[in-house]
Amino acid sequence: MTKSNSHDSELRARAEAVIPGGMYGHQSVRLLPDDYPQFFSAGRGARLWDADGHELLDFMCAYGPNLFGYGDAVIDAAYADQLTRGDTLTGPTGLMVELAETLTGMISHADWAMFCKNGADATLMALMIARAHTRRTTVILAKGAYHGAAPWCSMRPAGTTPEDKANQILCDYNDVASLEAAASAAGEDLAAIFAAPLKHDAFVDQVLPDPAYARRARELCDAVGALLVVDDVRAGFRIARDCSWSVVGVAPDLSTWGKCIANGHAISALVGADKARRAASAIYATGSFWFQAAPMAAALETLRRVRQTDYLEHINRLGHRLRDGLAELASAHRLGLRQSGPVTMPLFLFEDDPDLRRGFCWSSEMLKQGVYVHPWHNMFLCAAMTDVDIDQALEAADGAFQSLRTQIPHLAPVEKMRFLIS
Ligand SMILES: Cc1ncc(COP(=O)(O)O)c(C=O)c1O
Repeated sequence: MTKSNSHDSELRARAEAVIPGGMYGHQSVRLLPDDYPQFFSAGRGARLWDADGHELLDFMCAYGPNLFGYGDAVIDAAYADQLTRGDTLTGPTGLMVELAETLTGMISHADWAMFCKNGADATLMALMIARAHTRRTTVILAKGAYHGAAPWCSMRPAGTTPEDKANQILCDYNDVASLEAAASAAGEDLAAIFAAPLKHDAFVDQVLPDPAYARRARELCDAVGALLVVDDVRAGFRIARDCSWSVVGVAPDLSTWGKCIANGHAISALVGADKARRAASAIYATGSFWFQAAPMAAALETLRRVRQTDYLEHINRLGHRLRDGLAELASAHRLGLRQSGPVTMPLFLFEDDPDLRRGFCWSSEMLKQGVYVHPWHNMFLCAAMTDVDIDQALEAADGAFQSLRTQIPHLAPVEKMRFLIS
């Protein structure tokens, strides 16, 4: 019996009329295989239900926010409890101080914390603080690195002006010579180097940070008094219980956090070292919902779990099982599968697959078997996953590789991904 997608189709048709493009941003399925659902109805633990009620083991984890499982009872109880007391008030609650104390206690380079809603709020504040601190303008960014959807860092030019991106110099991630050339072009005007904790750009293999690159970024900032910023919005707490660059022994001046810090509740953070404190209090930064108490209560419980449980070892162990199991299966099916990035944030790309036709076919086959994987964006593991889930994913992968193998000679070009090869 074929699966019905009638609710999803109906919602898409209605969305076409009232939502620009039918959907926008990273959750639009425009660049995913045609059978991927656009709409969902529920999430619990590591599982999602689409709008037509199909259950899916979810390796996207809401693009990161789901760290301890959808609908975690204890975190959500902390949230709900605070909601009954007060959430959006005329001023913050004491939870804000407690949360700042908690984060500065966990992130070794941090002496202070500010809270906002999205990762893009935090990265914009980091940019402003670096400019306020140095009274300079130029920032160095790695080509292709994502820091949010604000005009200064938007991946698409529509609606932005060249001035929005003025005073930026791009370098190649992990390329010390390119970083040095960027720093020398910036000269005495360098305000900040923005660093992704790893290269986790879409469509290409992920690359872990070279410690020499991270150290050089630190030195180049120190040489002229610029600030080093690590954007941990996506990778935060999936690599370390501290800033992700703690694993390469480099401490930034500022780091930005979001996504999983309250297990899906809306809060992000910017933390910084004492030297940037004055600039941090000088910029005008605020938002109507930035001081909400309920997400702070959820964050406190999430961070307690980060500190006090073996969640990181657990997702690392499951991630290694998944990586090893997939490598074995792909090779048994004589398929070249490249797996990159930390095992807790895996990305799968196939060899000989410039327009992703193999990746699309394999992902669709996984979906048919109830496993949601992404063909070109890094995925995420969450602590609610179990060995049984990894078994399910590997069993599905075996079938999906088999099916891909037989379909390869007949696979048509993926028209919507043609831009990758043109
Ligand atoms: C590294 C990084 N920085 C910043 C952002 C922006 O976060 P948000 O979408 O919450 O604004 C993202 C979002 O994916 C991200 O991955």
